[in-house]
Amino acid sequence: MDLHAMDSYIKSLIKEAGHQIRNSFLSDITIESKSNANDLVTNMDKEIEQFFIGRIRRDFPKHKVFGEEGFGDDIQSTDGVIWLLDPIDGTMNFVHQKRNFAISLGIYVDGIGKLGYIYDVVNDDLYHGVENGGAYFNDEKLKPLLKTNIAESIIAMNATWAIPNRYLDNDAIIQLIRDVRGTRSYGSAALELAYLASGRVDAYMSMRLSPWDIAGGMVIAKEVGAVTTSFKNDPANLLKQDTFIAANPSIHQELLEKYIKFK
Ligand code: IPD
Ligand code: CA
Ligand code: CA
Ligand code: CA
Repeated sequence: MDLHAMDSYIKSLIKEAGHQIRNSFLSDITIESKSNANDLVTNMDKEIEQFFIGRIRRDFPKHKVFGEEGFGDDIQSTDGVIWLLDPIDGTMNFVHQKRNFAISLGIYVDGIGKLGYIYDVVNDDLYHGVENGGAYFNDEKLKPLLKTNIAESIIAMNATWAIPNRYLDNDAIIQLIRDVRGTRSYGSAALELAYLASGRVDAYMSMRLSPWDIAGGMVIAKEVGAVTTSFKNDPANLLKQDTFIAANPSIHQELLEKYIKFK
């Protein structure tokens, strides 16, 4: 695969999709709930996924698509070329804030991340990464992450971590919140990964993410030296929902061993 040619193709596709999303602010959007009242989906989530799939099927008929809204392929293995797509990551923000959401896309070949994209649609900021070719914030090359420690770290995590749950030791999490410099919650896994890659936060963790939430961000984060795993320190799951942590390598192990403790 010619990564350079693919990269230009994908960038223009993403920008075209972003244009459609920004235009949707001028008309009414249809909002529905999926698994629960707060799990929102709009006509734009569906239309943007279909837009990508139409182009991929036309221009790369052998490639497969794994998308959140289910218009793509039934993916059971990581074999072949797969586009992992979240047409709008942060739908709640899209609906309520009209900002802080992103298009997230990762291109994987036999389970290896080749190209990754996170497009902050409203700010027109594109983060992207090319396997062994570096990570970029628009045209600026991102620097390798600097060494840090827990006390000076900002951790992206959402408030649900404070709610006791069946699997994790809540006291250890509360201790983490005390020990770090600060916590942040942006409501888009993709943007939180982009912020990790650009050094604005030092880790991002979530109890449940899907492959399309993390696929693009993992390619970008890897290029600056970030580590991405499940809470069990296994490679992040590309086929189904799982726990997920992405962190500066100097704190990843400590987060897993000291703070994210299974009961
Ligand atoms: C969600 C966002 C959110 C995360 C959820 C995801 P969606 O994606 O990334 O930040 O906490 O787990 O499902 O549904 O808006 O694409
Ligand atoms: Ca969703
Ligand atoms: Ca998502
Ligand atoms: Ca989504």
